[in-house]
Amino acid sequence: MTEKLIKRLTVSDIFSKKNASKIVALSCYSSQISKIVDNYADIILVGDSLGMTLYGHKNTLSVTKEMLIEHGKAVVNSTKKALIVVDLPFGSYEKSKEQAFETSSEIISQTGACAIKLEGGVEFSSTIKFLVERGIPIMGHIGLMPQRVKINGKFTAHGKSSSQKRKIIQDAKSISSAGVFSMVVEAVKENLGKLVTNSIPVPTIGIGAGRYCDGQILVSDDMLGLFDDFTPKFVKKYAFLYKEIDKAVKNYQQEVLNEKFPSKKNIYD
Ligand code: KIV
Repeated sequence: MTEKLIKRLTVSDIFSKKNASKIVALSCYSSQISKIVDNYADIILVGDSLGMTLYGHKNTLSVTKEMLIEHGKAVVNSTKKALIVVDLPFGSYEKSKEQAFETSSEIISQTGACAIKLEGGVEFSSTIKFLVERGIPIMGHIGLMPQRVKINGKFTAHGKSSSQKRKIIQDAKSISSAGVFSMVVEAVKENLGKLVTNSIPVPTIGIGAGRYCDGQILVSDDMLGLFDDFTPKFVKKYAFLYKEIDKAVKNYQQEVLNEKFPSKKNIYD
């Protein structure tokens, strides 16, 4: 029997989805989850949100390049179809275009990922242009930028005032002209998400940015309900896995305490 050849999506496949079909994207970081997600998603982002979801940090600022490289390798090696994008961590690209190129090229060459995501608007357009001209495909990220949490004080919706709205549209246009192949738009009102989407030729991928974006992204741990504590209010949970895990571990505990052998079959039989 001939095996069906599965081709990994490219940045131009994603770009050409604008006004053609919606883009399905999820952040995930492990081999097990990304294997399943690969059957359905166009893009898998190995996002620095892993600092909070997997490692229990308060924000994304302490995530390192090494952490993203290890998780990036796991995801690339476990998937065949989705375009894999890896985040640039805080502190690894802001100093200069050269620093951004060094970090991006190391992440791409070590993981085999297809593209890099970085947070920033107008102020990062020349860095984005520099990277794209040197062969690094870039996904932008505007609106709420979690790496700016120390400036904003908290994770909060963006683009509320008319000057903030203008700035977000300016950011979108500027990084679009700099050459991003798509951009995440995070935590803005639906009408602003729509305005941004209609103002640029590049696909927008919304998270808490309303239905009119060209695609949607969620963090897989959030939408799978892997935990019971805080999740952003715009996140729809498609499962409540923490309940299943809790039930399974409780059953296991009861069996061990009641001296039931916790194995389906005794291997010594
Ligand atoms: O780090 C991440 O997972 C992200 C998405 C939430 C867009 O940036």
